[in-house]
Amino acid sequence: MPDGCPFAELYAPEFHRDPQRVYQRIRDAYGPAAPVMIEPGVRGWLVIDYATIIAWCRDTETFSRDARRWSDWRDGLVSDDAGVLGMMEHRPNVLFADGDEHQRLRRAVTDSLGRIDSADIGAYTARAAEALIDGICQLGEADLVEEYARVLPLLVMNRVFGFDEDSGKRFITALSAMIDAVDSERANAELERVVSQVIARKRKEPGEDATSWLMEHRADLSDEEVLQHLVLIVGAGIEPTADLIGNAVRMILTDHDFRDGITEGRMDIEDALEHVLWHDPPMIGYPVMYPVSDVALPNGSVMPAGSPVLLGYAAANQSMAGAPSEEEAAGTANRAHLSFGVGPHRCPAQDLAMMIASTALKALLRRLPGMRLAADAADLEWRTSPFSRSLTRLPVSFPPQTPTQEEAPWKESSLPPDSGPGESAFPARATLSDLLSMLRRRR
Ligand code: HEM
Repeated sequence: MPDGCPFAELYAPEFHRDPQRVYQRIRDAYGPAAPVMIEPGVRGWLVIDYATIIAWCRDTETFSRDARRWSDWRDGLVSDDAGVLGMMEHRPNVLFADGDEHQRLRRAVTDSLGRIDSADIGAYTARAAEALIDGICQLGEADLVEEYARVLPLLVMNRVFGFDEDSGKRFITALSAMIDAVDSERANAELERVVSQVIARKRKEPGEDATSWLMEHRADLSDEEVLQHLVLIVGAGIEPTADLIGNAVRMILTDHDFRDGITEGRMDIEDALEHVLWHDPPMIGYPVMYPVSDVALPNGSVMPAGSPVLLGYAAANQSMAGAPSEEEAAGTANRAHLSFGVGPHRCPAQDLAMMIASTALKALLRRLPGMRLAADAADLEWRTSPFSRSLTRLPVSFPPQTPTQEEAPWKESSLPPDSGPGESAFPARATLSDLLSMLRRRR
């Protein structure tokens, strides 16, 4: 390791204010991968180079996803109450599996997601977006993170996985705490409690939903595996999709060339989202891999076996995104960014994610013309998760509009509210519609 080079602190607000500056410093000082602090007392490495991420993600002999190889954790050097454990500790799910086991679990996931009726989910997403905008459009102002970007994917995931409103709301509250690495033990317990209740209900009464399909898949997942897959997939479906919507709206409101490209019809929404995935992707340091043997780096330093290696997609994309490619010059998107991952674990739900995000943006731009940022761009704040790029709030103002009176599609759910055993450890037990009304009443 070069002398005197500080570890980057991935939890520091300064890092989140301008991660690209930190990446550049790392690149200059170390090259493709550098030692970092993931949270105080938790050491790891961040890989920031495009070709290196591709090579390492494909090299399943040298790099494992199995977090039980994490040497500091095995040696008792990671405190039991470390905030990042919720995201980093091994779970019996596809993200932490290697080889044949990964293939078995991945088949169950892709087959279940493959059974989703995309026309139905597309129509549901569009109606849910309209209904959410109805809830804010007369007010002339909104926080688009809390009142739109995070709610829409949650509603869609509730529909896909057959969750009721209350379970969905409790799920996202706990998931946010876990991603922010706050009280992760309690958040994890709450996540598992919510999902166990959904599973118990589906055992009695299977439905046409991805939870039931996962449970009945021929890969024969154990109850614990079903639980851990639901925690993973529903979480993976909500948080990064919400961040993609939030980051895209922010870019539209702060980058005039980008906004003009969309409003003047030079770039369609799907291509605009690819641009956001290149330049401001939702996941900036996740998942995590573990070298099974020491890895020598070009600068002569050695990354020891069992080190957690965070996949720095945002940094890698940026190093490749300098010059406009032929596709970009021609107005179409270059999709070679790494923001959905690469190799055997690449995201299996890219189409679903893109459908939700593009539906969200199209509805917003059509329904709220004249929307502006209601804060200084420099004052926007980011959550300090080492794993994701996520705005805390996105305050906007717009000329008030008339609601379309779209019937909220989540009201039609035939599922009874979850009233099973196991009280929530989190105080916020309001249903999503209660939550939305409460947000509106606060004005
Ligand atoms: C914009 C939204 C999304 C982004 C940016 C995203 C990104 C990613 C990334 C970077 C990975 C890890 C790839 C790797 O380890 O190499 C991943 C894996 C995964 N994603 Fe997504 N994702 C998104 C939406 C979704 C949605 C909507 C779902 C499901 C409903 C989903 C389900 C999964 C699953 C199950 C995995 C683990 C796959 C495996 O380990 O084999 N993701 N995603």
